[in-house]
Amino acid sequence: MKDNATEHERFVIIQWDREGGEESTYVSSGVKKTLENKCVMCHNEVASVIPDFTEFEQLKD
Ligand code: HEC
Repeated sequence: MKDNATEHERFVIIQWDREGGEESTYVSSGVKKTLENKCVMCHNEVASVIPDFTEFEQLKD
């Protein structure tokens, strides 16, 4: 799964998560954009067996 994002994108996602994964920094950190570009084509409401990242509440889980 980690192959789907670049080193830098992974770093930003992990750092954002370690800092608490706050909704307030979800957009400003760039995490939302990365997920939209790299993950949501699979992780969406259609894919019932894997987490849906289009909704922030789901991502928190
Ligand atoms: C090509 C389709 C595809 C893309 C793109 C994709 N995923 Fe996934 N993801 C899957 C599938 C299928 C699974 C479930 C099977 C597995 O674990 O490999 C999964 C599982 C996961 C899991 C584990 C979920 C669990 O319940 O254990 C995480 C976390 C995850 N993906 C994160 C990401 C992130 C972050 C990105 C973007 C950088 C991403 N994925 C991009 C298809 C994708």
